[in-house]
Amino acid sequence: MIPIKGLILSGGKGTRLRPITFTSAKQLVPVANKPILFYGIEAMREAGIRDIGIVVGDTKNEIRGAVGDGSAFGVKVTYIEQEAPLGLAHAVKVSRDYLREDPFVMYLGDNLIRQGITPLVDEFNREKPNCMILLAEVPNPSEFGVAELRDGRVVRLEEKPKKPASNLALVGVYMFDSQVFGAVDEIRPSWRNELEITDAIQRLIDHKLDVRSHVVTGWWKDTGKLEDLLEANRMILLDLPKKVEGTIGADSTVEGHVVVGAGTEVVGSVLRGPLIIGRDCRIEHSYVGPFTSVQDCVQVKDSEIEHSIVLNGSKIIGIGARIQGSLIGRDSEITRPNRKPRCFMFMVGDSSKIEVL
Ligand code: TTP
Repeated sequence: MIPIKGLILSGGKGTRLRPITFTSAKQLVPVANKPILFYGIEAMREAGIRDIGIVVGDTKNEIRGAVGDGSAFGVKVTYIEQEAPLGLAHAVKVSRDYLREDPFVMYLGDNLIRQGITPLVDEFNREKPNCMILLAEVPNPSEFGVAELRDGRVVRLEEKPKKPASNLALVGVYMFDSQVFGAVDEIRPSWRNELEITDAIQRLIDHKLDVRSHVVTGWWKDTGKLEDLLEANRMILLDLPKKVEGTIGADSTVEGHVVVGAGTEVVGSVLRGPLIIGRDCRIEHSYVGPFTSVQDCVQVKDSEIEHSIVLNGSKIIGIGARIQGSLIGRDSEITRPNRKPRCFMFMVGDSSKIEVL
């Protein structure tokens, strides 16, 4: 049997997660304190894939720094440079030398599929269709690639349609054999100047090749937007086992599933899970509520936060109101000194969003 290769797409622009993506790859934003990309690599490894190509763009050094040669995950990683984010089908095109004639699973590096991909890869391996796509019912199909099915077969795919033919969106995992290269060569850039993978799959359908679909019933998330990232964080936190390595003062309360990393001190505070706090943080006279992920070396003092993600080295001090639904970038400071007059003072990066409720 020919081993199936993996192809993870980790280039792209990440415009919807600015300003975080001005300084960092969106695939490395942590969900439950683990970069999103790592979940994809682990899902592939679990499905028996050992040879993975990662398509990288401007953030290649950061991705390489985080993933290395793949040995930490038990896989071999090859980096494939895409000169510009010219579309998912373009990413396939630039990976041709790496993929050769082998069948492969393509996984969008900002997607999360809770149940993994093992049964789907097994089916693809066993039945050898030319292509297999995953679909999920969504309330807002016009934001996705959408499939039209007839008698269970895919007859048409359309990228972000104004009038969607169904509520079945393409999930960010696709399986192909080498027929896809011919299809990718035939298509032209779309109105947004990208080579669309939906157009390439449509060519396979038009050429009467075997394109199958699977409707995913468990949850999956395309974490390209803040609210989806927070939702993914919420779902993953539900699965974490309780583990407290840091020091919880006698004057603090810990409720529910809570993970606290080594070197973290919690003083006079309430932690209400599910939540994760990384290493070497200090939580003082504060409330850290459900569905929150706090990375390492973060300080939270005299503040309340829930349903949020806080990255390494940030400080949240003296905030009178509860912070929620927020993504706070690395080394940020949100403070409220006790000075008059009371006012808002901001120094925020381009494309930041601040809502005062
Ligand atoms: P998208 O989320 O569709 O695109 P994007 O990263 O440019 O984000 P935005 O829409 O917010 O500007 O990309 C899905 C995944 O595929 C993501 O991990 C980035 C990756 N990708 C590439 O590697 N190459 C590409 O040419 C494109 C378009 C995306």
